[in-house]
Parts: sequence; C-alpha cells; structure tokens
Amino acid sequence: MGATRKHVAIDPATGKLDRSIFSERAVYDDEMERIFGRAWLMIGHESLVPAADDFFHTYMGEDPVILTRDGQGRLHALLNMCRHRGNRVVRCDDGNAKRFMCTYHGWTYRNDGGLDYVPGESEAYYDALDKSSLGLIAARVETYAGIVFATWAKDAPSLEAYLGDARWYLDTVFNRRDGGMQALGPMKWLEPVNWKTLVDNCSDNYHVPTSHLSSARVQTRWLGRPPLSHEDQFASPNRHAFVNGHSLTFRDADDNTPRYVHGITKETFPLFRQYHEATMPEVERRLGRFRARRVQLGNHSIFPNGILGLRLALPRGPLKTEFWHFVLLDRDAPEELKRAIRIGSQANNGAAGMFEQDDVDNWRQVTSASTSRLSRWHPQELSMGLGHAGPHPDYPGLVSERYISENNQRLFYRRWEEFMNAQSWADIPLDPISAHFDGTAAMRG
Ligand code: FES
Ligand SMILES: [Fe+2]
Repeated sequence: MGATRKHVAIDPATGKLDRSIFSERAVYDDEMERIFGRAWLMIGHESLVPAADDFFHTYMGEDPVILTRDGQGRLHALLNMCRHRGNRVVRCDDGNAKRFMCTYHGWTYRNDGGLDYVPGESEAYYDALDKSSLGLIAARVETYAGIVFATWAKDAPSLEAYLGDARWYLDTVFNRRDGGMQALGPMKWLEPVNWKTLVDNCSDNYHVPTSHLSSARVQTRWLGRPPLSHEDQFASPNRHAFVNGHSLTFRDADDNTPRYVHGITKETFPLFRQYHEATMPEVERRLGRFRARRVQLGNHSIFPNGILGLRLALPRGPLKTEFWHFVLLDRDAPEELKRAIRIGSQANNGAAGMFEQDDVDNWRQVTSASTSRLSRWHPQELSMGLGHAGPHPDYPGLVSERYISENNQRLFYRRWEEFMNAQSWADIPLDPISAHFDGTAAMRG
C-alpha cells in the first residue's frame, strides 16, 4: 500500500469542491485501498450475533466479511474468501455454525478463522501444507457501546482514539442505558449514487425545508409536528461539530425534552416523555447531568461511511451504493415505544421512507452531474459559513456558529484528502481526546 497520486478535492479558502471525486474510477479504486483499507469501519452490532457460534454476513467496503462470535464469546471479522481458490465460505446472511466449509474442494474453517480440515491433507498434499498460515484473513475488531467496528490496518490507532471526542456526542444516543441497544435489520437496497453524497448530507440541514417540504407538511398535518421553515432553521440553536472525520449535529436543549426521532407523533409523544423521565436518573448516572439533560445528538456520520446511526453506505463502484438500514433500539425500552420507533423509522427512512426518497433523488443528481466532463470544469460551491467555526467552551471538536453551515462538509473532504494522500496511519492526524466524560458510560458500554 502506498500513496502515489496526490488527491486534492476541496479548496479550504473558497470551499470549491472538485466534482470528479464522485465519478472517477481511479479515485474510487484509491478510496478502496486508502480509506476502506485503513479506517475503522462499522460492520454490525453485537446484538446481531448474541450467542456463541452466531455469525452475521457483512462488508468492509466491497469486501465480504463474516462477523462471528466463537465458542468463547470472542468476536472475529473474517474475509469471506477461501484461501485455496477464493470461493466464499458463507453464502447466507446469518446463522449459527462452528465451522464453515468451502463448497469448491471442501476446505473447512473454524469460526475463529483457523483452517481446520483439508480433504486429502496426507494423500494429496503429502502432509506438506502449512494449515496454520492459511486461516481466513482476519481484520482487527473492537466495539463501542455494542457497535462492532473492524479495520484491515495493523497500524491503526485504537477505536477509542479513532472516535476521539466524537464519542462525547455519540454517547447521548448509543450509550444511554445499562442494558445497551439492539439492532433490527438491515433493510438493503441499491442506488445509483456515489457513497460520499450520503455522508455529505448528514450535516446538511439547509436542504430540509426545501427538499422535504411535502414530507414535512404531511408530518405537520397527520402527526402534529410543528411546521418547518427556513427561518426556523436559521434561528435554530442547534450546532454542528467535527472531530477526526466524524460529523455531528446536535441540539443544545435546555428544556429537557426527549430527542426527536421518527416515531414521535402527537399520540406517541406522552410515551416518549414518560420514558425520558423514567430513565433520566440512569442516564444522568451514565453520562453526567449536562450531557444527559442538554445534549441531543441529531444527524451525524462516522468516517468514512457510517450515517445517521447504524446505517451504512457501502460503496459498489463510483456510481453505485448499497444502503444498509438498521434500526437501533434501547434493549430495555417498553415494547410500545420500540414499535413506534420501528414503524416511524421505516416510514421516513428506509427504501420506502418519505424523507429517504426526497434525499435519494438529490444524491442521484449530484452524482450524475459529476459524470459530465463539461460539468467538471465547474466545481461544487461549499462556502457556507466559511470562517465561522472554532473551539467552544462547552462542546468538544470544531464547532460551527450556526446550525446551517457547510463547515462539516468542508472538513469531511479535508479528512478524505488526509486518508487518500497518507502513506500509512503515521501520516493521518488525530485530535487528542480532550472532552471530559462525566458519568459511568465507557467504550464497552
Ligand atoms: S476454493 Fe475453497 S476449497 Fe478450493
Ligand atoms: Fe434529507
């Protein structure tokens, strides 16, 4: 692995963005090696493999990976490629198995990746095959609050350092309860969009009153949600923060209300408020009073391709992305509340979600515009809020002055350049952890 071509995407002084990064094959090939071959990637959730010998089939970039829990309860991320000729040794989405047998010639692997059995080991190979060096290729695995991450890079920092102060915000959704979370799904579908268009959109609140006007009107009319206007968005006390490539938007909520999630309606709101109040002592113990009561994480992305919670934008070529939509729920929440969130999540995001369809149309067009040689002469314009972000006394990371800003997007493309131009992890800067993590919540939950 070695960087040769110098990639320049964004001009930090003007916010001009080169469109070719959304469609050029050579750029995409470098992304697979230098970003998806290096970064910590979200690949699943512990609740998808709850028992010994459970497995869940997932991806790291374009590479098929088996997330397994071995007989001792340890997690593994194994490249789904037989070391003999390369067949996949798992052909289904999930299951429970102590071993995986390749159906080409029968090489059989344990669920910790070790090569266990080779037909004709004595007769065909004369006992000369070094089975110990031919296990399934294993990635490093670590977890944060039950979310499983993996990386191919032996020199990558710890997941804790990789998330850094972003975890201060992420905890307010993913690390609230002693009982942790459970993942449902995923719902999967393909779209003709570049994977970065979705990530970029996670901090784009500017589009909401325009793109989602009709969806928001439906919500106002049928769900009792307040109407949405540009004026509300511009006056919003919400903010953006950026840490190590991770884009976070959050609400500084001094009114101690439950965080808005899809599934809240005028009928279900009392249920959400009741749950918020009943769990507040536990959440305060875990996160400290300030984060428990005031900080509400909203849309966010985890570098490179984790979007809006446990959703994945899996690259499938420069002009195609496979969407994986999970729903994450507090495991010990009442069933009625879980049901409201599950239905609300599918109705708004997911393949048939009202908001998702508005968004996907935008991402298709942004991608499509990048394919024309003529269009590429004219860069994207990401200058909004230039010079209006910096450190904040209460909030970690680089914080924008306003909720409507393109600061996170500019910094995302800077992070992209840092990965694309690095020779190794030694060249990739990481902000030191400086936030004060009040409460008992830790990396492992
Ligand atoms: S390709 Fe798997 S056993 Fe030959
Ligand atoms: Fe949107």
